[in-house]
Amino acid sequence: MEDRIISNELNNGDEALEFSLRPQYLQQYIGQHKVKDNLRVFIEAAKMRSEPLDHVLFYGPPGLGKTTLSCIIANEMGVNIRTTSGPAIERPGDLAAILSALEPGDVLFIDEIHRLHRTVEEVLYPAMEDFCLDIVIGKGETARSVRLDLPPFTLVGATTRAGLLSAPLRDRFGVHSRLDYYELDDLIEIVIRTGDFFDIMVQPDAAEELGRRARGTPRIVNRLLKRVRDFAQVQGDGIITKDIAVQALERLQVDRLGLDNIDYKLLRGMIETYQGGPVGLNTIAATIGEEPQTIEDVYEPYLLQIGFIQRTSRGRMVTRLAYDHMNIETPERERS
Ligand SMILES: Nc1ncnc2c1ncn2[C@@H]1O[C@H](COP(=O)(O)OP(=O)(O)OP(=O)(O)O)[C@@H](O)[C@H]1O
Ligand SMILES: [Mg+2]
Repeated sequence: MEDRIISNELNNGDEALEFSLRPQYLQQYIGQHKVKDNLRVFIEAAKMRSEPLDHVLFYGPPGLGKTTLSCIIANEMGVNIRTTSGPAIERPGDLAAILSALEPGDVLFIDEIHRLHRTVEEVLYPAMEDFCLDIVIGKGETARSVRLDLPPFTLVGATTRAGLLSAPLRDRFGVHSRLDYYELDDLIEIVIRTGDFFDIMVQPDAAEELGRRARGTPRIVNRLLKRVRDFAQVQGDGIITKDIAVQALERLQVDRLGLDNIDYKLLRGMIETYQGGPVGLNTIAATIGEEPQTIEDVYEPYLLQIGFIQRTSRGRMVTRLAYDHMNIETPERERS
């Protein structure tokens, strides 16, 4: 499948952009005030006690800044960060090796932590709780377990699917931080920051237009800015005005609320074939020729978030907001 410009997942070509743009310290991190304020206190307190920070779990949709915050924690604590991911750690021994190579106070960042193998996860429990490893030596009757001490460290876990985390693992994190979609003002600030960073002139009303279409997601707003800049260079004098932004975004087929063809295909499929629902996930999937899992994980969350789709016990329904947005007459039953 071709990359969607409004996808909140990492697309081809995003990586270099994101790496250079990552805020390094809390002060540069825009929005998410509650998360930031709490972290600031916890970090300050840990430093006063000369202890590592408590283990932190970040969860929330892709592109909202979980990886960024993990690096910020290491920078603020003045320690090194070691980065890995759930699926990358194949055997318990791999994790044991990573843990024993940590320096005191280090941050171990495990991305996609919900995808850790169960056997690997079990190595983490004593490591998180008591900073030690339980290792079995020998086989059969002579096998015995020994405890190895680990340097104190901070585990930072990130996941887009907190619901898939096992309870014992979840409970071992002292700090749980949920990242939410960003407010428009924060997205505008991010556009301005990125513009400054790359010497792109963005007029304030153009920044607002980009922010509105970015689906509450920094990763998307930065990507839109990068693409719109091309239009400004070729069709204008390089300055991103509101006119240029609107024209470019129409050309890229990103509408006023950040919806693209796939969103429309999903909504139209539900409206034209099922009068807007209720209709079951599998039926929708068959209608538009997609996997149910893809609809649930990728297509639907933003439409639910902005209230265009509702989940009911009898299936998904298109709401009046969506009909209005698409200029389609609302069926009788929705008009109340
Ligand atoms: N609060 C913020 N202020 C400024 N820029 C941000 C902020 N949060 C994220 N960004 C930008 O968005 C990009 C994506 O963020 P990040 O990679 O941290 O998301 P993520 O939550 O880890 O996504 P994924 O779930 O796909 O791993 C970053 O490279 C950064 O440029
Ligand atoms: Mg990440």
